[in-house]
Amino acid sequence: MKRSDEYWAQRAKKEGYRSRASYKLLQLDEKYNLITKSSLIFDLGCAPGGWSQVIAEKINVSAKCIAIDILNMQRVDKVEFHQIDLFSNEFKDMMNKNSKCVDLIVSDISANLSGIKLVDDENNFELNLFCIEASKEMLNPNGALLIKTFNNSKLKEVVNKFNDVFSTVCVEKPVASKTSSSEVYLLGLIPK
Ligand SMILES: C[S@@+](CC[C@H](N)C(=O)[O-])C[C@H]1O[C@@H](n2cnc3c(N)ncnc32)[C@H](O)[C@@H]1O
Repeated sequence: MKRSDEYWAQRAKKEGYRSRASYKLLQLDEKYNLITKSSLIFDLGCAPGGWSQVIAEKINVSAKCIAIDILNMQRVDKVEFHQIDLFSNEFKDMMNKNSKCVDLIVSDISANLSGIKLVDDENNFELNLFCIEASKEMLNPNGALLIKTFNNSKLKEVVNKFNDVFSTVCVEKPVASKTSSSEVYLLGLIPK
């Protein structure tokens, strides 16, 4: 049953999650079992840390999570945080260093809103494209990419790009995602 938007915020507070976003990843992971089987995970756009907390709870002892954001993030145990921009040279270095050996990339990144819908849609589209390019460089042959995108005029193009890159593509709207938000999540499995 669909819970109210307020429900997830209150539950996050009670259960010690930094954001209600944690439940979106928990629900997606419950369906697709992405985290436990992964040895190397990247969490892109991780602040304030709700998704990193979920990953830290679920990863194996020997697994590693690297998280990045332009904003600072309070430490999450078991997560290596870097305060960098996705488009920076530092991230490009990370891509090269982790070429073809990443199991899972998750991105909850969304652009800072300008208030102009066309501009915001374009900025989010650029972020989505960058994540897809990064996944081509970084994922191993069994890897997976999970990104946030939006149900707007660009969605079809983003889904088409996913279909070019992945053997299986799923579009999801987790129950914890605000009903009023146009956000949806795309999951690509098995790079072609
Ligand atoms: C919705 S929040 C992520 C919430 C997070 N998943 C959680 O559970 O706490 C989106 C994040 O994307 C980050 N972001 C936006 N543009 C970015 C960029 N170019 N590089 C890195 N992070 C970026 C923002 O700073 C923001 O913290």
